[in-house]
Amino acid sequence: MNKEIKRDGQTANKIFDNRSLENDYRTLVPILKEGMKVLDVGCGTGAISKGVAERVRPSGSVTGIDTTEAFIISGKETYKSVSNLELIHADLFQYEPKEKFDLIVSARTLQWLSTPKEALIKMKSMLKPGGLISILDYNHEALEWKPAPPASMQQFYATFLRWRADAGMNNHIAEDLADYLKEAGFTDIEVVNSDEVYKKAEDNFLSKVGIWAKVAGSTQMVEEGYLDDMDRLKAIEEYNHWIETDAELMVMKLNEVRGINR
Ligand SMILES: C[S@@+](CC[C@H](N)C(=O)[O-])C[C@H]1O[C@@H](n2cnc3c(N)ncnc32)[C@H](O)[C@@H]1O
Repeated sequence: MNKEIKRDGQTANKIFDNRSLENDYRTLVPILKEGMKVLDVGCGTGAISKGVAERVRPSGSVTGIDTTEAFIISGKETYKSVSNLELIHADLFQYEPKEKFDLIVSARTLQWLSTPKEALIKMKSMLKPGGLISILDYNHEALEWKPAPPASMQQFYATFLRWRADAGMNNHIAEDLADYLKEAGFTDIEVVNSDEVYKKAEDNFLSKVGIWAKVAGSTQMVEEGYLDDMDRLKAIEEYNHWIETDAELMVMKLNEVRGINR
């Protein structure tokens, strides 16, 4: 079973639209080359895919696939002028492209799958011989907040990790990706640290650190019996206050892991 926390569409659209290749998948930039044919799996609204498309043009192109139709509809409208970008509403496991790719990328998507190894095997089947894979994902267990946020949010976060683990998701997938790639048959595996560091003085601090208030905005874990609604609301309120007053730093731990289809 693959499952995802349900956020209201507009909140999720905004989070994904605010992402960019340079800020949110920065380690990919040096390996992009003009002419590459690229697949972006779990492309969201296509904000990062668009950045990739700009770097591989004019002869290269990007196909982004995502199972959330609203993201694809939104991205098609936002990036309609990017002629070498195609966004398709499709599930990775059902997708059958006409041609194979030089590069397959996937950011923050395998963390939501209970079958990440099968996803990598499927991706390998869509790569040309010698083609490259790049997966960017989190170690949620190593998230750092300074100083510690209110107990209500710490408790919410612990519940969030338990909810994810119960659904079969790997909360420290960033640490396991190299092994998963090896098991899927990739070679020349490289791990590149891609931590996201957000400091109080920076412009995007409030919105980036505020992501956990947005996650707590979903009532899904309450509906599934993991959490009392009062505790959820308390976590949001106290966390938002903490962001405005005490918060200094948040570090989200990520690795980009690459391999070759030999
Ligand atoms: C956290 S978002 C990441 C979006 C974007 N890559 C980014 O880094 O901003 C994960 C995306 O994976 C998509 N997704 C989940 N399972 C998928 C599947 N089996 N095939 C294609 N997309 C999938 C979700 O709909 C969601 O948009």
